[in-house]
Amino acid sequence: MRISFPEHGLSKSEVLASMQALKSGDIDWKRGRAPLYVFDGGEDVYEMGRAAFFEFFKENALGGRRAFPSVLQMEEQVVGMAIDLLHGDDDVRGFMTTGGTESIIQAVQSARDYARSRGRTPKTRFNIVAAASVHPAFNKAARLMDLDVVRTPVDADLRADPDALARAIDDDTIMIVGSAPCFPYGVIDLIEEIGRIAQDSGVWMHVDACVGGYVAPFAAMIGRDIPAFDFAVPGVCSISADLHKFGFCPKPASTVFYRDEEHARHHAFDFDDWPNGRFYTNTICGTRPAGGVAAAWAVFNHLGLEGYKLIATELMDFIDLYKKRISEVDGLEILGKPHLSIVAYKSGDFDIYAVAEKLKEKGWLPGLVRDPKAIHQMMSLVHGKVFDEYIADVEDAVASVKSDPSMQSELKATY
Ligand SMILES: Cc1ncc(COP(=O)(O)O)c(C=O)c1O
Repeated sequence: MRISFPEHGLSKSEVLASMQALKSGDIDWKRGRAPLYVFDGGEDVYEMGRAAFFEFFKENALGGRRAFPSVLQMEEQVVGMAIDLLHGDDDVRGFMTTGGTESIIQAVQSARDYARSRGRTPKTRFNIVAAASVHPAFNKAARLMDLDVVRTPVDADLRADPDALARAIDDDTIMIVGSAPCFPYGVIDLIEEIGRIAQDSGVWMHVDACVGGYVAPFAAMIGRDIPAFDFAVPGVCSISADLHKFGFCPKPASTVFYRDEEHARHHAFDFDDWPNGRFYTNTICGTRPAGGVAAAWAVFNHLGLEGYKLIATELMDFIDLYKKRISEVDGLEILGKPHLSIVAYKSGDFDIYAVAEKLKEKGWLPGLVRDPKAIHQMMSLVHGKVFDEYIADVEDAVASVKSDPSMQSELKATY
């Protein structure tokens, strides 16, 4: 029911109390019940991000150039530090945005305008060639720009099948995509092979490292087997990497990078035909929170390489345990070979969604994959802290579903 505008204001404490009451029905992410949406790097990182965000609570990152040089400087430094992590050289250009979707939309727009600048015109419509597993943000970008997305099958290891990608490229293709990792299965695509295809066909290659961009480099530094996915790979033209996911920075914060000035040239919006003079932005958003910029800068500087490596160690050790214990439950099987902390598991013996339904009854928000049917979790440190409880509930749920194998769930996979 629609409520009307209040005649009289409430006190701050009344407003806060109402909000807390509203919140009581939300998923309890602090107890690891959310399999996505929230990323936890520990209490200390949370406090640092929060303090920095509120230090710049009122400032506007739109005004970085004219009014808030501190914000611009922090933004440039965040981008500079990230370029190092992604094996970029001095030619690489990067920008902060407000999220993975914005980073992807901007990379797609840059690729389209790059194609146009080289005299290309579509026979029908320009298209993006990407595996079935890429994030819907590419379809969102395509819808905004009247492009098509040609989705190709994944291989037996659930990675984008490079041959299928190569076959799908046609005269109208302006971008080919690899994920590092993809959201549904947590696997890093064969970026080097896709890079070769991109080079052979002369098509712009984007790596969507929204999930992996700020954890894969540290996992590699601590000796984990992480395939090359960044500017070290020839053919990679642009990369999206989210600070507000495994960079453990407050939302909204992401980054997008280009191999060099030529690829970055079409990124900015530059307009000079209205009464207030030149309007130049590097984001789709105009006004955007300076807090997101400040907090990312603060978290980077607070943790340093050392701090991020410690988090990566704790996280990856937990993921090893998670995969081991789930695989030990009779009837459960991990999907593919996930590289980082997205893990999904299925069953050949019973309806896995019935297990998810039992977990839901115990307060765990079920993350679901539809193809193949699986339970899905994107995990950070908070999930490790409640793992004993989780695995006990999984074992109970599996036992109960096994006792009645005809049990079929009505759950539907939604993001
Ligand atoms: C692989 C991947 N790319 C892009 C995105 C979009 O990021 P955002 O939700 O920050 O727009 C996500 C979100 O989960 C993702 O998993």
